[in-house]
Amino acid sequence: MENQTLKDNWHAYMNKPSIWHNKIHWEMPFGLINDPNGLCYHDGKYQIFYQWNPAECKHLNKHWGYTETADFVNYSIPQLALAPVDDFDRNGCYSGSARSRNGKLEILYTANLKDAQNIRYPRQVLAAKNSDGTFTKKKIAVDDVPKGYTTHFRDPYLFTHSGRSFFIIGAQRENLTGCALIYEEIGGNWILRGELKTDYTDFGYMWECPNLISVDGRDVLVFCPQGIAPQGHKYNNLYQAGYLIGKFNPDTLEFVHGDFQELDGGFDFYAPQVLAQPNRNILIGWIGMPEKENEYPTTKEGWLYSLTLPRQLKIKNNTIYQLPVKELDALCRSKQQFNDCRALTLSAPCKITLDIDLTCENHWQGKFTIGSDELIISFDKNTQEFCINRDNLTLGGKGRRYFTISVKDNLHLDIYLDTSIIEIYCQNGEQAATACYYAQEKIASIPFEMNISAQVTVSQLNSFKFI
Ligand code: FRU
Repeated sequence: MENQTLKDNWHAYMNKPSIWHNKIHWEMPFGLINDPNGLCYHDGKYQIFYQWNPAECKHLNKHWGYTETADFVNYSIPQLALAPVDDFDRNGCYSGSARSRNGKLEILYTANLKDAQNIRYPRQVLAAKNSDGTFTKKKIAVDDVPKGYTTHFRDPYLFTHSGRSFFIIGAQRENLTGCALIYEEIGGNWILRGELKTDYTDFGYMWECPNLISVDGRDVLVFCPQGIAPQGHKYNNLYQAGYLIGKFNPDTLEFVHGDFQELDGGFDFYAPQVLAQPNRNILIGWIGMPEKENEYPTTKEGWLYSLTLPRQLKIKNNTIYQLPVKELDALCRSKQQFNDCRALTLSAPCKITLDIDLTCENHWQGKFTIGSDELIISFDKNTQEFCINRDNLTLGGKGRRYFTISVKDNLHLDIYLDTSIIEIYCQNGEQAATACYYAQEKIASIPFEMNISAQVTVSQLNSFKFI
């Protein structure tokens, strides 16, 4: 795949008939995308990279795809930034991060190499953007896996703390438990400082995609532990994505923290990365799940997976609140308000804001009719549980997800409904939940019905633009 071919044909690719392609979620016209990578602000624009196999809908041949945007509404036509063509990254340019330093965009990623026996040789490689927009792999910053850890060693995330430069990287101890290691940039070299010291010393077999950020004056570790068993309504996805809020000591590597909390209450969310700016943190996640390809019928259309809306993070009551960045308001084409509303007809993409008065009611339910199928969301005031139910959908993943939110009398929901993705933000961001849903054929509209009436605002949204 050549960048010129992508540029010349992008609009033709995107105009191909599709039942499921989304309008306000980042996707590629073909191939498989997964983790967002290299998120940073550089040269007046947000830089968004992501894992991409342009050749097929399989977890192979990982490149870095790339777009930039000044406003999260208009995006540059995607380009390939990194391809797995070198001896050290033959088996994939795996996840990593980026930073803007002295006017230069620098990348640090995991070069994945496997030998004939399938043994991994992960290396952490520095790359940079050239003035003509191309990217060059510069040097291997970390050539080996430290003693005491297996070759599950990947996903470096660059961050600064107390004026010092670090990266944190996902690792697996030789006793097959997951953890994260910290490296510090000292005199132009990356020096292993050691393991991040948390209370979670036996929490899954591998931690993928760790991020260490600071939100509202607190340090936050975002990471994806693999191998956590479901506990009631918690940890029901195959792999988890969550966070610890606490305080990081860059000298001792101690991280004093609270409990692990999941970032998203839905079915299809993994490997998020945070774009850290001095004034705000923006999280983008992968809408998908490793090893669950058969739950996503879009493979039939030759493309697989999406990225979430960019979400701004805040901390309230020791919880991360997430809401789509305010720039997305500019997508609004028209707005309608309905009082005492129980039923309406929606057409994607749209944003639905609901205020549901539960002073005299205990149970609320909203049903989206998807052709001959149904997607049902509900809330129970007694248990404070919100539920997303995909049991009445024919295609794609099924089941239910439950999460708890705090509601006294008013349930407030901001729902972004796209062609095959729903993102639900409850109680002004207290809980976000992402779910894919797949109509069996192309549908023009989606009837929505509730058991009790609500105050509703529907904003019809424009699609993302590619220029
Ligand atoms: C997470 C992940 C990362 C890895 C990348 C490969 O989804 O497995 O650990 O770097 O995907 O695409």
